[in-house]
Amino acid sequence: MVMFRCHGCGAEVDAGSRLAFRCPNAGRPGDDVDHVLVVEAEAASPPIGSESDPFLRYRAWLSPYRLARGAGLADAAWGDLVGRLDDALTAIDGRGFRITPMAERRSLAQALGLAGALWVKDETGNVSGSHKARHLMGVMLYLRVLEAAGLPAGEGLHARRLAIASCGNAALAAAVVARAADWPLDVFIPPDADGTVKARLEELGAEITICDRRAGEVGDPCYLRFREAVASGAIPFGVQGPDNGLAIEGGRTLAFEMAEDFGRIGVVPDALFVQVGGGALASALAQGFAIARANGLIPSVPKLIAVQTAGCAPLARAWERLAGVELDAAAKYRSRFMWAWETTPASLAHGILDDETYDWWAIAQAMRASGGRAIIVDEAEVAAAHEASRAYTDIAASATGTAGLAGVIAEPDAGREIAVIFSGVER
Ligand SMILES: Cc1ncc(COP(=O)(O)O)c(C=O)c1O
Repeated sequence: MVMFRCHGCGAEVDAGSRLAFRCPNAGRPGDDVDHVLVVEAEAASPPIGSESDPFLRYRAWLSPYRLARGAGLADAAWGDLVGRLDDALTAIDGRGFRITPMAERRSLAQALGLAGALWVKDETGNVSGSHKARHLMGVMLYLRVLEAAGLPAGEGLHARRLAIASCGNAALAAAVVARAADWPLDVFIPPDADGTVKARLEELGAEITICDRRAGEVGDPCYLRFREAVASGAIPFGVQGPDNGLAIEGGRTLAFEMAEDFGRIGVVPDALFVQVGGGALASALAQGFAIARANGLIPSVPKLIAVQTAGCAPLARAWERLAGVELDAAAKYRSRFMWAWETTPASLAHGILDDETYDWWAIAQAMRASGGRAIIVDEAEVAAAHEASRAYTDIAASATGTAGLAGVIAEPDAGREIAVIFSGVER
């Protein structure tokens, strides 16, 4: 049995009996608890496979795999589920999931005047051009296991459509993974969504709904239409923890790969700078590094430094308000720490302008545990990071995807061994 537990209210969900996505107690009128489902117990001393596909290599580390085995599916059945999706991904997107490269970038570090080493994990060559597909592959494998094992949570599943509110890398990742699984997807996007992204979504067969603001409506119209779709039976296929806690898990593979690499090279990373929008990436990395440390891949976790832009910094705002507050108590009073950014944000790093950091709580916990913090960068630093990445590396990442490096520019003395993630290929 694989149990999930809400970090806010403690509700437990058996992932085989009902979908382990949204906490069953979330969304009640007047409720101020921060509800996110997290797998209750991690695997004990999970082995690492010899495969280069992270969903095979770290399969024993993933709850959908444990669910599959517990339900009587053989190891080979998991290999079959992953293999079929991999073939389809290759046909649709020209690649499946493989360990992505991480390397020390000396000339970039030198150009930025860093005294120590700078390690860059490059996710621009991943499925759909960013790390986002990792989150959604984790969710898709869970859905596939439910069906293959004939578990109660899988009943009537395929008759339900997938849904996501996004017009960037997450939407593209969702569309590629959904297409590979031959599962219909609804994407809720704003009227001013990027034309190239829209065209690719259509090419991938996603059904697009353009969401205009309705009179008197408060909040993001795309998210509101997404919630309505889910309320009418759609499966949440986004990367925000409160709507789909399981989405965080697939993203942990990114940290497992980095930890394995660091262990192999014999480097202990001091600080990890992560660009934060909705917060799923930082949450997944923090959880992944903690699990990697618990299993002896690295001796300690790096300080987690969350990077937001001055245009939109709800996590940095929450971090300040959390000073001296018990995190367990804070999870009961979400609105004191996290609420929608009041002004319409703008930044070159437009992919991290989420008006709320949905996964704020897990990031705050990891920042506290690792001695890290949340920082705000200005537009000059965002631009400088993007320009330096283009001038001193061969990685074509977007300004959103190099925003973590803007944090390094702002705080170059954070450690001797600094790590960042470049993601989101320039389109
Ligand atoms: C390239 C890139 N990096 C980082 C992020 C931040 O991820 P998250 O929203 O999970 O904080 C995003 C989100 O859209 C992104 O597209």
